[in-house]
Amino acid sequence: MEYVDLYLVHWPVSMKPGRYKAPFTADDFVPFDMQAVWEAMEECHRLGLVKSIGVCNFSCKKLQDLLSFATIPPAVNQVEVNPVWQQRKLRELCREKGIQICAYSPLGASGTHWGSDSVMGSDILHDIAKSKGKTVAQVCLRWVYEQGDCLIVKSFDEARMRENLDIVGWELTEEERQRIAGIPQRKINRALRFVSEHGPYKSLEELWDGEI
Ligand SMILES: NC(=O)c1ccc[n+]([C@@H]2O[C@H](COP(=O)([O-])OP(=O)(O)OC[C@H]3O[C@@H](n4cnc5c(N)ncnc54)[C@H](OP(=O)(O)O)[C@@H]3O)[C@@H](O)[C@H]2O)c1
Repeated sequence: MEYVDLYLVHWPVSMKPGRYKAPFTADDFVPFDMQAVWEAMEECHRLGLVKSIGVCNFSCKKLQDLLSFATIPPAVNQVEVNPVWQQRKLRELCREKGIQICAYSPLGASGTHWGSDSVMGSDILHDIAKSKGKTVAQVCLRWVYEQGDCLIVKSFDEARMRENLDIVGWELTEEERQRIAGIPQRKINRALRFVSEHGPYKSLEELWDGEI
């Protein structure tokens, strides 16, 4: 490829290059110099190697820090978004700053070693899906889409890939949106592996700047 469309900083963490394995040791981490990392991303953009640059897993605070020195603001913040972790505060900031939220794990990453069944197993989502003649996955994806986020859902199953695309041409009712808004919130991908007494984040509170 001569260029990539979108290049993202995956985590607000820097580690030595090479293979790494949790739990991390003092040797694995290097300080996260956000400004230096972003300058390098901007350089990739200037060189024409990437069309757009962005970040992932940035809290409101980290985004604001980044915006204070960025000459090219991030186009995207790719973060967990699903009915169990709705990201209202972050979405408000991103809208105000013109940053597109890209929703990962929109189904709660069920079936992965770190994911949860709390989204796909939600009674509220099951009720709504049943009454609409849709699947729980479709209700989730439609809800994310209605927030104005772009979304990445993953399936290795062709029928489910087709199901996941079938979220246009119908919508949730206001009552259904209200019910989803009332679902208790809990971040699923907390990324405890990046918390270490040796690393830049000594607690989950520090990693997510309290937005957890
Ligand atoms: N930037 C980041 O830090 C970050 C972090 C996490 C994830 N991501 C990205 O986000 C994307 C999606 O997230 P994810 O894989 O974590 O979670 P996800 O899309 O919420 O969930 C994937 C799981 O849901 C199942 N599934 C998919 N469609 C389904 C359907 N219609 N009905 C029932 N089950 C269904 C899949 O199983 P089957 O394959 O059997 O269908 C798989 O087990 C991935 O591309 C991933 O790389 C990014």
